[in-house]
Amino acid sequence: MVRQSLYRYCVELMEKAEIPDCGFDTLCIFQDVLEDKMPLFQPEMEVPADKESAILDMVNKRISGIPLQYILGEWEFWGLPMKVGEGVLIPRPDTETLIEDILGIVREKQLKSPKIADLCSGSGCIAIALQKEIPTAQVCAVELSEKALVYLRQNTELNSVPVEIIRGDVLSAEFAADFRDFDIIASNPPYLTAQDMTELQSEVQKEPQSALFGGNDGLDFYRSMTPLWKNALKKGGCLCYEFGMGQEEDIKLILEENNFANIKFSRDGGGIIRTVTAEKTEV
Ligand SMILES: C[S@@+](CC[C@H](N)C(=O)[O-])C[C@H]1O[C@@H](n2cnc3c(N)ncnc32)[C@H](O)[C@@H]1O
Repeated sequence: MVRQSLYRYCVELMEKAEIPDCGFDTLCIFQDVLEDKMPLFQPEMEVPADKESAILDMVNKRISGIPLQYILGEWEFWGLPMKVGEGVLIPRPDTETLIEDILGIVREKQLKSPKIADLCSGSGCIAIALQKEIPTAQVCAVELSEKALVYLRQNTELNSVPVEIIRGDVLSAEFAADFRDFDIIASNPPYLTAQDMTELQSEVQKEPQSALFGGNDGLDFYRSMTPLWKNALKKGGCLCYEFGMGQEEDIKLILEENNFANIKFSRDGGGIIRTVTAEKTEV
């Protein structure tokens, strides 16, 4: 088949299966398999049989509900390639707000070689983007899941960054006690509520529950991590969280209860209050 006919056929297959964004997904699959950023610029070009069957295979996976990002095996975050697949959360554009916040802090405080920890690192997208932007920083990435750690290791190699990878449970007081003198602690922990978990889109259901579920009200990680990791910050150091829509008042309360000051929120690209930064003012 020629490219345009195959494209239309794939879009129709996906439409019948009620897959959202079928045109976009088909285009991404074409770009990946044909290794061409603009595959439809040559609509009458014949698609070789092996490529056609690879495309149809990926389209069928998409129809079975597998997220596009897992099918492609790679997704972009902060303009950087990140390997993704079953067992790791797909980096979201909302999380780029946290990178912007942290770069703002580094500029404002004129930190030359900040010590940064990314807790609940998953694919490593936060740690890797920060290390790329601040080459002089000492960045470590903490993650518990062995499956996610496989991607985290691959992504630090793929992006050639010296991020230190540490396996550990961020909810363990014993583990947290080994960390000291950080300028910045960043985290995008699991924050979905029990109710959210019953209403997940079918693609999100394919992502690991352990990356999504934050307890009954979604706040378990913030409640436990804030007092534990406060001790790992320097005086004047900042705790920077991403959180779910509508959680800001509860997060503010948790930070205030733990004596954080200068609590500031930022909105993501969709206008939703998505991140917070807060300063440790006591020794
Ligand atoms: C919401 S995902 C965030 C992943 C990544 N930072 C991002 O922004 O795309 C939360 C991550 O926390 C990890 N995680 C869950 N419980 C953990 C724990 N107790 N200790 C360390 N990591 C944990 C999950 O495996 C998952 O990778």
